[in-house]
This record gives sequence, C-alpha cells and structure tokens, in this order.
Amino acid sequence: MAKYLVTGAAGFIGRSIASVLLARGEAVRGVDSFITGKRANLAGLEAMEFLEGDLADPPVCAQACAGVEIVFHQAALASVPRSVADPATTNRNCVDATVNLLVAARAAGVRRVIYAGSSSVYGETPTLPKHEEMLPSPMSPYAVAKLAGEHYLRAFTRVYGLETVTLRYFNVFGPYQDPASHYSGVLAIFCRKMLAGEQPTIYGDGEQSRDFTFIQNVVEANLLAAAAPAEKVSGQMMNVATGAAVTLNRAFDVLSELTGYRGKPAYAEPRPGDIRHSLADIRRAQALLGYMPQVDFREGLRRTVEWYKAS
Ligand code: UD1
Repeated sequence: MAKYLVTGAAGFIGRSIASVLLARGEAVRGVDSFITGKRANLAGLEAMEFLEGDLADPPVCAQACAGVEIVFHQAALASVPRSVADPATTNRNCVDATVNLLVAARAAGVRRVIYAGSSSVYGETPTLPKHEEMLPSPMSPYAVAKLAGEHYLRAFTRVYGLETVTLRYFNVFGPYQDPASHYSGVLAIFCRKMLAGEQPTIYGDGEQSRDFTFIQNVVEANLLAAAAPAEKVSGQMMNVATGAAVTLNRAFDVLSELTGYRGKPAYAEPRPGDIRHSLADIRRAQALLGYMPQVDFREGLRRTVEWYKAS
C-alpha cells in the first residue's frame, strides 16, 4: 500500500517529487488527469502505482487517498494567463480539486497534506522581498484559486486536525517543465526556442524580475515539509524560493551563453496580469524546515539546458 500520494504526478513538479521518493525506496501512488500532465513524464516512474483521474471527481480523490499517510498536492492548472482566459476551469482544477482532495484525505485518515502554493498570491505590492506576514493581494484568477486552496488547508487543520503545510513556490524551473505551450514558464520557453535557434519574445522591457527557483530546491522543501514535526509546521505557509531576483534580460543573457544562441530577443507589449518584481524572503522556511536552496540560478539553468538538449 502506498504511503505517499503525489497529485499531478505526470506534471513537472509532481514527477520530480515522485522520482526522488521512489529513489529512496518509498511506496508512492501518483494521480494525474493529463489535462496538462504528460504521459512521457511517467518514464522512469514505473515503480509508482499510477491512477488516471481528475481530482474534481470526488471518487477519484477517495481512491487516490486510500491507505496513504502523506499527500504532496501538486496538481493544478499552473498558469496566470490561462486563468485570465478561462477562470472557471482554473477554479475547478485548483479549488474544487483541492477541496475534494482534502475531504477525501480526512476521510481516509491521511496524516499530512503538503500543498503547492504560489507566489502569485502576493500580487503587485511594492514591498520586496515578499514575506509571509504580508496581506495577500491576488491579481489573477489563478492567484485567487491558489490562495483559496491555502485557506482551505488551514481550515482543515483548525477544524479537523488534518496536518497541512503550504509551500508558496516562486517561479520554479528545471528538467521536465513543458516548454511547448504559450502557458509554459518563461525559462522553459526560452530554453526550447534558443536551443532551436528561434528568437524568444520578452513581454515588456525585460527589466521585470523573478526569484527563479530550481526544481531540486522545491523537491527538497517538500521532503523537509513531510518530515518536520507537526507542532512546528502544521497549519503554516511559507515561501520556497532562492531569495535572489533575476531580470528577464539577465536570464536571456545567461541562456545565450549556455545555449550558444547569437541573436537578440524580440520585445512585445507587457502581458496583462503580470507583476513587475517578485522576490522572496525565505527566512520562514529556513526557520521551520531548515530549508536552504542547494542549487543557484545559473547552475540550475545549466542543468536545465543540458536536459532540454538531451531530450
Ligand atoms: C506566475 C506566478 C507563479 C506561478 C506561475 C504559474 C508570480 C510572481 N508568479 O509566474 O507563482 O507558479 O505564474 O504559471 O505571479 N514572459 C516573457 N516571454 C514569454 C513568457 C513569459 O517575457 O515567452 C514573461 C512574462 O510576461 C513574465 C515573466 O516572463 O513577466 C514570467 O512569466 P511566467 O514564467 O509565465 O511566470 P509568472 O507569471 O511570473
């Protein structure tokens, strides 16, 4: 019987968590609807028990949670522009799915749920770095949906005693991130294009910045959140990032070096709903989890480019 459940196991972050758990010899179940997850991402995860299904269907959640002790809830429609185009579908796959999962987790006697939160909940507030005491100010339907999920987790801790932890991810990148959709993360898109010799487009002047976080740091934070004592972490939310901001222009320069791309980027109108700067204060995750980012931006990007080259 699986001890761990990973939702969104065919997605970028889910498959990365599952892979590390399996390498440790853990019994893992994965669930994915393949709305954005890819069957190809399951390669190498053959030891995982896999369930195809949509968490918006309560019976799928019940089946997924049966016998499980710890859930890593990574399933979501992870895109700001997609939520702007279709808020109801984002709500279904982020909010309904999370509530159904929590209900099923409680009924199945799951001990702890770790949730993929998002830096987007901070919105366009001038304060930098973003710290967890700040009042959330979500700007996009995606950010609202991710924040609603956080509140549901905390409510389930308060009223039912389910252990929950929210990790607010900041712009995660790395191997297995889908580069092929216009809803993809910017670094995945740029890697694919620049390796193919195609010109990438920067929306705005390229001086917007992000706390780009390499996947290995995010996986590590999840494992720490699973192992931390409940009295320290249950009902808490915290940033998971590197604590360093990189502009898109700078990211383009580093990628030019790593990919050998010789051209200039194209510049286009800023994207609606975008925020200008995003940078995390990571002290809470350090204090509560002992989290320290192991891989910095440049090294993460080097590994990512190598992976896209090889795949
Ligand atoms: C946001 C959230 C993040 C969430 C992610 C899911 C913030 C700070 N972060 O990331 O928590 O997990 O959505 O999608 O709100 N860009 C280009 N060219 C492209 C693609 C993007 O210039 O081809 C620009 C965007 O306009 C933006 C930046 O790159 O300024 C980053 O975009 P993206 O990678 O989509 O992530 P965020 O919207 O920052």
